[in-house]
Amino acid sequence: MNILLLGSGGRENALAWKLKQSSAIKKIFIAPGNAGTALYGTNLPVDTIDFEQIRYICIENNISMVVVGPEVPLVAGITDFFQNDIVLKDIAVIGPSSQGAMLEGRKAFAKSFMLRHNIPTAGYKSITNENLKEGLEFLKTLKPPYVLKANGLAAGKGVLILQTLEEASRELQAMLAGKFGKASHEVVIEEFLKGVELSSFVITDGKNYKLLPSAKDYKRIGEGDTGPNTGGMGAVSPVVFADKQFMEKVISRVIEPTIKGLEAENIDYKGFIFFGLMNVKGDPFVIEYNVRLGDPETECILPRITSDFFALLDACANQKLGDCKIQIDDRYAVTVMLVSGGYPDEYKKGKSISGLDAVSDCVVFHAGTTIDLKNETIKTSGGRVIAVTALDFSLQDAKQKAMANALKIKFEDCYHRSDIADDLIKYRTI
Ligand code: AMP
Ligand code: GLY
Repeated sequence: MNILLLGSGGRENALAWKLKQSSAIKKIFIAPGNAGTALYGTNLPVDTIDFEQIRYICIENNISMVVVGPEVPLVAGITDFFQNDIVLKDIAVIGPSSQGAMLEGRKAFAKSFMLRHNIPTAGYKSITNENLKEGLEFLKTLKPPYVLKANGLAAGKGVLILQTLEEASRELQAMLAGKFGKASHEVVIEEFLKGVELSSFVITDGKNYKLLPSAKDYKRIGEGDTGPNTGGMGAVSPVVFADKQFMEKVISRVIEPTIKGLEAENIDYKGFIFFGLMNVKGDPFVIEYNVRLGDPETECILPRITSDFFALLDACANQKLGDCKIQIDDRYAVTVMLVSGGYPDEYKKGKSISGLDAVSDCVVFHAGTTIDLKNETIKTSGGRVIAVTALDFSLQDAKQKAMANALKIKFEDCYHRSDIADDLIKYRTI
């Protein structure tokens, strides 16, 4: 069958690479894709929220399945669009309905959903201009630091962590006044959870689910987790502190109640759920839901899945995940992200990338890259540019391999963190 993959990042490059290994797939199309996805299929210059154009390319290319990478088209209702269209309704879409996508698209909905289903999460209050006074009073009852979250999607920038009550009160009002546009006209104020973060992933058909490997991502730009937040500077899988006992708690307290809750509320959900978790002294708390796979976590976890990934998607589409088996490589995976100098603030684009062919015993995924047809070169086109993933039996060896190969890839002002996995290597040896 022919498959359409929506998105243009490292996550979509990893999905295209993995799906290319499946004999059931004839052709892969990626909209809009990047220079890396072009190695595994045909890029089509169509925006992920241009549903009419997507409709057209599905018909034109005889597409039987659409895999949605990013959250924006899901929150905008792409799955409902397909279901309600007489021509598209039989095309399987991997990604939840817009109602399911509210788990990511509306933080206040996600929090009330967790409350309804007894899923551990930080205490909170949802505030608009109407109950601002209540919000300011609630802040006073909390201990610093203070967590403020824009209710809607804010391109990964909608969470503020503030050290003083004054700052938090000021920022709450700024957010409600439109600091993040409409996304922050409602704000979730949360208790701060102290612990270590990790991400758990499942694919669900709305009834059954399969657990995918867990991962830890490195969000800050600087070594030692310093500086501003980014989309993610690297990832490690598996997470050494997510042992059997901890994962059993994640499954029984978080994953299963979430799937059962979706079913009980009649929310149509066929796709991935990304649980952003905090391990608080051995107990999991949900920090956030995402209705997609993570980036760069996907670049780290897909190379560890040795079974046919398309079989998993197909079972998801047909509500047969209960019968499906998934095989995981025991080795550690470490992913290092090469970014443009200046990122996550201003950075330059259009820099020529060299050394991609010099990489050995690693997988390279493109994120912000384009093909310059005139010069037949690959150029940078985004903040995060290339992800390098290495697998090995020890975390240390996987890290060294990933770093050594990352150094072979060059473009002007290229930067990467060299301490990815160090905290977990230390944890291992304590
Ligand atoms: P994101 O939602 O990806 O922009 O990231 C928000 C980040 O803020 C998370 O990765 C956590 O590090 C942090 N965070 C969010 N909620 C809480 C919370 N309740 N307690 C502590 N840290 C939090
Ligand atoms: N790496 C975090 C995310 O994909 O949201």
